[in-house]
Amino acid sequence: MHRSEISKLNMILSRVRHPKFTVKNFTIVRTYYNVKRKVKVDEDYLAKHIHQKIRAKGPVTVAEYMKEVLTNPMAGYYMHKDMFGDTGDFVTSPEITQMFGEIIAVWFLNEWQKMGSPKPVQIVELGPGRGTLCNDILRVFSHFKALHKASLHLVEISPTLSEVQAKQLCNETNPTPESDTVYKRGMSHHGIPVFWHKQLEDVPHSFSLIVAHEFFDALPIHKFHKTFNGYKEVLIDIDCDETTDSLPKFRYTLARNETPMSKLLVKPDETREHVEISPDSIAIFRTICERVKFSGGIALVCDYGHNGTGTDTFRAFKKHQQVDPLVLPGTADLTADVDFSLLRNVANEVDGVITLGPSTQKNFLLKTGLEYRFKALARNIEDKDQLENLTECYNFLVDEEKMGERFKFCALFPETARKILNKAAVVGFSWQ
Ligand SMILES: C[S@@+](CC[C@H](N)C(=O)[O-])C[C@H]1O[C@@H](n2cnc3c(N)ncnc32)[C@H](O)[C@@H]1O
Repeated sequence: MHRSEISKLNMILSRVRHPKFTVKNFTIVRTYYNVKRKVKVDEDYLAKHIHQKIRAKGPVTVAEYMKEVLTNPMAGYYMHKDMFGDTGDFVTSPEITQMFGEIIAVWFLNEWQKMGSPKPVQIVELGPGRGTLCNDILRVFSHFKALHKASLHLVEISPTLSEVQAKQLCNETNPTPESDTVYKRGMSHHGIPVFWHKQLEDVPHSFSLIVAHEFFDALPIHKFHKTFNGYKEVLIDIDCDETTDSLPKFRYTLARNETPMSKLLVKPDETREHVEISPDSIAIFRTICERVKFSGGIALVCDYGHNGTGTDTFRAFKKHQQVDPLVLPGTADLTADVDFSLLRNVANEVDGVITLGPSTQKNFLLKTGLEYRFKALARNIEDKDQLENLTECYNFLVDEEKMGERFKFCALFPETARKILNKAAVVGFSWQ
């Protein structure tokens, strides 16, 4: 990165006022809004539902299982509760510290300004969780009066999380669907309109700053296992040995024959023992690439991931512990590492977009000024515990043993921006 780019970013960061940093542990970094679960279902609802489905139709793919477990309208993991933070099942970078969202905001602001600050601009977030990341982004943008003619578009499948987001982001919301493509609308504290959509296709076509943080790892994957007879798809079946007690049990099994997905998705030169592929991720990433190409924009995807070398990464988390994904479906988060090499191939197929990364979280955040921001906040903290906690949050984000190495960033720009980027390279990524 050029020296002038670094000092420009630091200047942007120094203009973000220091919000009070009353940190003791992760829970009090943020104000949390909770919503009550409205649909009451038994803990074993999904186990019974999937059991019946398998009895009727035979073993299901891991993708079908994941989709039911995470997004079944009655009892899907994401649909009716708030699972973030100390008392939930996992914690994400934006929930750990505001510094994360500030750095993402500053990165977007800088790249957008390099492109001539096109207006109107849409901020689009896929899978916004509690809405914390976009709230931090809006706060930074508001300091730069960069919200004029802006709008926020949230792609969220969960009605419950959309309520949490509305409480965090808006003064007022209108929860009645206003069209087939917008199921809720509100006005943010910063005075910009906020729209909720069920899918990216429903977001209007306009210049967009698109962010997806820990979104792709929640999308269903198909799993394949290498055998002497080629790759076989991994399926989920009823565990007959253990149906004596009342709770249905499941086990993995291999499809005897080729499945449509094993034919379609496994590359002829594949060599890994286990392969995981997410057609939903491919489709959504293709849509992002096409939007960046045709309507203009910048996209940033941040997630657990690998560059085509990952194998068996499908897992479940409950109360911050790894648990068996087949036990009590719907009560734990299911996730699989994102294959960034696959996303890159999609971008190459679309053509007309520049793909950068994956860059590790540590590399991206440090190059974009995290240390500078950390030191600026630390200088204003007198309390020893608070300072310790801020340091802990900082280390959590960049430590290679924690989030620094496993989380990766990938960025997309329209090919038409190449001349600009040749003059001032994209921050946080290597530029050829
Ligand atoms: C692991 S959470 C990440 C939340 C947030 N981005 C963060 O980092 O704190 C995944 C988010 O994606 C949403 N989600 C999962 N599957 C989705 C889908 N198919 N369409 C839209 N949103 C989805 C979930 O409801 C949740 O908001």
